[in-house]
Amino acid sequence: MTTWSSGAFTFAEGYLNASTIPAMEIGVGILGGGTVGGELARRMLEDREAILAKSGIDLRLRAVAVRELDKPRLFPSRYIVDRPDLVVSHPEVDLVVELMGGVDPAREMVLSALDLGKPVITANKELLSLHGPELFARAAAKGVSLLFEAAVGGGIPLIRPLSESLAGERIERVMGIVNGTTNFILTAMDSEGIPYQEALADAQRLGYAEANPTADVSGSDAAAKAAILAGLAFGRWVSIEQVHTEGIADLASQDLGFARQLGYTIKLLAVAETSPHGPAVRVHPALVPADHPLALIRGANNGVFLEGPSIGELLFLGPGAGGEPTATAVLGDVILASREFLAGTKVAPRVRFGNGDVRDFSEVETQWYLRLEVRDRPGVLARIAAVFGIHEVSIMSVWQDGRGDYATLLLVTHHARETNHRAAVKDLEALEVVRQVAATIRVVGAGP
Ligand code: NAP
Ligand code: HSE
Repeated sequence: MTTWSSGAFTFAEGYLNASTIPAMEIGVGILGGGTVGGELARRMLEDREAILAKSGIDLRLRAVAVRELDKPRLFPSRYIVDRPDLVVSHPEVDLVVELMGGVDPAREMVLSALDLGKPVITANKELLSLHGPELFARAAAKGVSLLFEAAVGGGIPLIRPLSESLAGERIERVMGIVNGTTNFILTAMDSEGIPYQEALADAQRLGYAEANPTADVSGSDAAAKAAILAGLAFGRWVSIEQVHTEGIADLASQDLGFARQLGYTIKLLAVAETSPHGPAVRVHPALVPADHPLALIRGANNGVFLEGPSIGELLFLGPGAGGEPTATAVLGDVILASREFLAGTKVAPRVRFGNGDVRDFSEVETQWYLRLEVRDRPGVLARIAAVFGIHEVSIMSVWQDGRGDYATLLLVTHHARETNHRAAVKDLEALEVVRQVAATIRVVGAGP
């Protein structure tokens, strides 16, 4: 039988003889032993043999940093330390996984690890969206990996396809559901009639929500992810401040019901589009036609469309939050970073971000759903239509609910610029026949 060698591997003709391959050991330190970090530690210990057999990498857990020493954990207490800096500087930690969340002390710990030449894996979209350029520049200067597959889309492989497999595609649009907590809440409210607070509490209990769930419901978690996706898709840095962000906290349950009657469902969407004036990146609730693929994504699942001239449309779909799927994404990065570390060469940065303008959000065009409380008498509709006409907003459909002194009017417009829509709303509010513009929500995916 012919055999030949390549580095640490010995290959045999026709098959790979695992017993001849020396195991390659990597010491791993984890910062954070909560929902994701705890699950990662458990998997590294329980699945060590299986990971070794499959990847050839012997992952050795060295230490896990937490804040509270006495909390029950998914892994043995002998690994626990209460100082993240001790994990980073531990002489037997080759690779650091940051799963604490937040910016401080995560940023300092990531920079320290990179300075020591240790690859870093993180799931921290907040940190990356605020300090990405600094962190990627430091990783590039040190020639070590900084990987973040779990930062967007939880367990869905999305970052690596976007930054590697699709590196040669001119991505024009990224659109989808990137926050599991809000999708879980909206699904529970819409399909099961569960009140908002109860649905949020369930999402927290199941480990989907951030430590501070305001980040989820305000849209800022989705905005951080949208900024990261836009950066990878368009090859230029988009900061979280450049993402127009609206959350779900102000959504009225009535509008979920009316949307359903009109043939839509409400989702929190992230949309990043290129234009000659730079990318426009936004996060907001939107009515999506009930038969649109994004409308069918339920619970804590995420779904993201990538669009480009050569690939057409690709849809990535799966569990967007939760300890178990997210730990799988982190483990994939740990194994890749281990291979790169063991190869002993300098790792070139996977992401190259330039600067540039972003498109003025007021120029962006979308369709709109409006709920108006109006006087129920002849001529009212004509006055409302006239306001839309003045601002060049074309009405696609009108539906009235109720009769009496006042009625609810539901309108869906054709595409209109943000500025025109806002000006129309201002003038509608000034009409004597309009008691209230009770809701205005964008409509996405309903056609040209
Ligand atoms: P978590 O459950 O709140 O866990 C955070 C862990 O970090 C806890 O173990 C906490 O210690 C520890 N910690 C926080 N600050 C610390 C400090 N200063 N020193 C030492 N330990 C500290 O959070 P998580 O849900 O696992 O999320 C971790 C990261 O993954 C976040 O960046 C999050 O955005 C991201 N992520 C989460 C999910 C998900 O579904 N949960 C999905 C994708 C990405 P104690 O346990 O003692 O409090
Ligand atoms: N809180 C986040 C979510 C976790 O609900 O999507 C995954 O990033």
